[in-house]
Amino acid sequence: TTLEDAIEAEPTTSANTEVETREVTILFGTDTGNAQALAEEFSQKLEQQQLKVTVSCFDDFKPKALKKVEDLLIVTSTHGDGDPPDNALSFYDFLHSKRAPKLEGVRFSVLALGDSSYEFFCQTGKDFDKRLEELGAERIYPRVDCDLDFEEPAAEWFEAVFDKLGASSSSTQASGIDQTAVDDDQPSYSRSNPFRAEVLENINLNGRGSNKETRHVELDLEDSNLVFEPGDSLGVYPENDPDLVDELIETMGWNAEESIPINKQGDLYSLREALTSTFEITTLTKPLLEKAAQLTNNEELKSLIQPENKEALTAYIEGRDLIDFVRDFGPWQASATDFINILRKIPVRLYSIASSLKAYEDEVHLTIGTVRYHAHGRDRTGVCSGQCAERIEVGDSLKVFVQKNPNFRLPENPDTPVIMIGPGTGVAPYRAFLQEREEIGAEGDNWLFFGEQHFMTDFLYQTEWQQWLKDGVLSRMDVAFSRDTDEKVYVQHRMLEKSREFYQWLEAGAHVYVCGDEKHMAKDVHATILSILEKEGGMSQEEAEAFLTDMRKQKRYQRDVY
Ligand code: 2AM
Repeated sequence: TTLEDAIEAEPTTSANTEVETREVTILFGTDTGNAQALAEEFSQKLEQQQLKVTVSCFDDFKPKALKKVEDLLIVTSTHGDGDPPDNALSFYDFLHSKRAPKLEGVRFSVLALGDSSYEFFCQTGKDFDKRLEELGAERIYPRVDCDLDFEEPAAEWFEAVFDKLGASSSSTQASGIDQTAVDDDQPSYSRSNPFRAEVLENINLNGRGSNKETRHVELDLEDSNLVFEPGDSLGVYPENDPDLVDELIETMGWNAEESIPINKQGDLYSLREALTSTFEITTLTKPLLEKAAQLTNNEELKSLIQPENKEALTAYIEGRDLIDFVRDFGPWQASATDFINILRKIPVRLYSIASSLKAYEDEVHLTIGTVRYHAHGRDRTGVCSGQCAERIEVGDSLKVFVQKNPNFRLPENPDTPVIMIGPGTGVAPYRAFLQEREEIGAEGDNWLFFGEQHFMTDFLYQTEWQQWLKDGVLSRMDVAFSRDTDEKVYVQHRMLEKSREFYQWLEAGAHVYVCGDEKHMAKDVHATILSILEKEGGMSQEEAEAFLTDMRKQKRYQRDVY
C-alpha cells in the first residue's frame, strides 16, 4: 500500500478504451535470434490490432510476473541435445520446479523451433507445452514444431493463434512473418528478401600443409541499407553442388528441365534449378525417411522407420545424403514433383560476422571453415562452406541478410574490460569486436584466447592481432596450438595457467565471451571458468555455479556456440 503499489494497480489502458482486452505476453528463448525475431514480429502485429502486448526473453521475465499473465505465447528454440537455450534456462527450471504457480485462467500456445536432424527435435517447446498444461493453463491452439525452414509454419501458427485471441485477423497479412514493404522507398532486405552481395575477396587463411581450410570472405553491402553490430551474424542462402544435383537427377531418371512448383504459391523452377537453389539434398532426417516410405513399397525402408528400429535409423542417416538414400532404397516410381514435395528447403547458414561497419563501411567479412569429410565411401563437403571454397569467386554474389544477435554484444560501457575466448573460426566475432573498439577509441582492456592446430599454418588473422597488440588495442593474447607439442594444449589450459589474472579481470567487471565449437570446447571452457572461480575466488562448486549463472543473467557471460 505504498504509492508505488497504488500506481502498479492502476490499469494503464487509456481512458477511452471501450472493451476489456486481455494482455498478451510473448516469451521467447533464442539461440541464433530466430525465435526473438519471430516474437518481435508477432508483437508488432498484435499491437497494430490495438492489443496490449509484452514481449520478453525468458531470462528478463520475472517469475513473479507469471501470476498476472493472461494470454501467453511462447516461441522457443531448442539447444543441442534437447536443452533450453541459455537465455531460457532459469525460467525453464523455475517453471519445472515446485515453486511454479498454478496457471488456471491463463491461455497459451507454443511455437517450437528446431532441427529435425536432431533426435530431441523441438524438445524445449514440447516441455513448455506440457508443463503449462500441467499447471492448469488452457491451450488455445496446438503447439507447432518448426523445422529449419520455419517461415511458413510459423506464419500459419501465428494466424491461427491470432484468431483464437479474439482479434479480427482479416486485416493482417496472409504471410504473417516478414513485412518487406516498409513505409519508405528504400528496399528493405531481410531473411525473406535477401540481398545479393558481391564477393570482393575470398582467400584461404590457412597455410600450405594445414589440415584446415578457412575462407576469409568479404562481401559488398553498398546500397543494401543493411546494418549490423559486432556480435551479429550474417545469414547466407547457399546452393547445392551442381554435380550432386546432376547425379541425383540421373540416379532417379528424372528430366532436369521439367517444371516443378517450389512453394505453396506455385512458383515454377526447372527441376535442376529447384534442386540447386531451393531443396536440401545433403542431410537426411527421420521425418524425410518417413515421408519417403509412403512413396514406395520398399519393405526394407518401411521396416527401418518402425519405432523398434530407431537406433538403426539414427545410424543410417548419420553421414549419408539423399543420393545414398535413393540408391539404397530404389527403384522409385514417384514423380519428381511428389519427391521434391517431401524435401526440406536448404537451411540458411549463419556466420558470426568478422568485421565492423565502423572499420569497413559497406562491407561484411566472414570467416568460414570448410567442412570436408569422407563417409560411406564418398568424399563429402559442407553445402555453404564447400560452395565458398570451391565455386564462389570474386565478382560472384551470395544472397544474404543480417541476423541480429542481442545475446552477443560488447559491453555498453567502452571502459569495461572483455575476455574473448574463440579457438578456430570462433575467433571471427572478436575481429569485429576489436575493430569496433579501436574505431570508437574504447578504453576497456581486451584479452583474447585463440587456439588452433599449428602455429605455422593455422594462426588465423595473425598479423592483425599482432598489430593490435602493438597498438595497445589488444591488451593480452594467449594462444594454444594444440598439435605443435607432444601434449595437446587448448585455450582452457591457457586460461587455467593465468587463472589469477583471469579472476582479477572478472573482479574488475570483465565480460566473458565464448565463441566456437559447442560440444567440446564450450563445455570444457565453462568447466574451466568454474574451476577458476573455485580456485581463485575460494568459492564452493555451488557458489561458482551461482556466480556464473548470475554473470549470464547480467549478460556478462555470453556465448555464440555451434
Ligand atoms: P585439436 O584439433 O588438436 O584437437 C580449433 O579447432 C582448435 O580447438 C584446435 O586446436 C583443436 O584442437 C582445439 N580443440 C579441440 N577440442 C577442444 C576442446 N575440447 N577445447 C578446446 N579446444 C579444443
